[in-house]
Amino acid sequence: MRVIILKNYEQVSECVFNHFIASFKKNTRDNFVLGLPTGGTPILFYEKIAKNQVDFSKIITFNMDEYIGISRDNKNSFYSFMNENLYKKVNIKPENINIPNGEAMDLEQECKKYEEKIKLYGGIDLFVGGIGTNGHIAFNEPNSDFSSVTRVVNLTEKTIKDNARFFNSADDVPKTAITVGISTIMGAKELLFMANGKNKAEAIKQTVNGAADKLWPSSFLKNHKNVTLVIDEAAAILL
Ligand code: F6R
Repeated sequence: MRVIILKNYEQVSECVFNHFIASFKKNTRDNFVLGLPTGGTPILFYEKIAKNQVDFSKIITFNMDEYIGISRDNKNSFYSFMNENLYKKVNIKPENINIPNGEAMDLEQECKKYEEKIKLYGGIDLFVGGIGTNGHIAFNEPNSDFSSVTRVVNLTEKTIKDNARFFNSADDVPKTAITVGISTIMGAKELLFMANGKNKAEAIKQTVNGAADKLWPSSFLKNHKNVTLVIDEAAAILL
């Protein structure tokens, strides 16, 4: 795993942006299949994409996850988040945007279809992600299986508490979600993960120095042959 430690959030976001552009330019397929996260961490990365007007006409995106129990129109759905922060600002074709549908009547079927669609496009070329304070990647919480695929999951108390900052209260945070699995993430050709702030320091220590272990799902990232982790000095404080 390549670990890049930079001074602050701005530098982390710039580095992730440049890395994404380099990967995209290297791509020789007709389309570039990009996995994307939501959350606080990627906001500046998305701002940089919008500001530089990156050409999304040949990019197909797959978001990592979506809450169950709130509608797509809710400002806290990942669908709304992605529209506000990225999709409405770039020239992506609507049919190239993929976000799990947390309102699907048959959630199991929705998960199966999502996983199959990724395969249909030949897999993810670059999966960009953030890391939860408990080491979750996408919504693969501690104890998730290495072989897990897209599925419905329960969020941990820790994640609900962490994400309460986007809602009125922790009670309003959905308790379940659809997430791609660890094996879905590990199946990407390249991984680019980022983290900033001292609240991520323990997860980063486990990710970088710990053995690959279910208790810290992000520690599995080191098993991928092409993974880059970009962090700031605050997140690196325990390394
Ligand atoms: C988001 C996601 C999560 C976040 C993680 C970090 O789609 O799947 O794994 O990347 O919770 O969130 P922030 O960036 O808000 O600290």
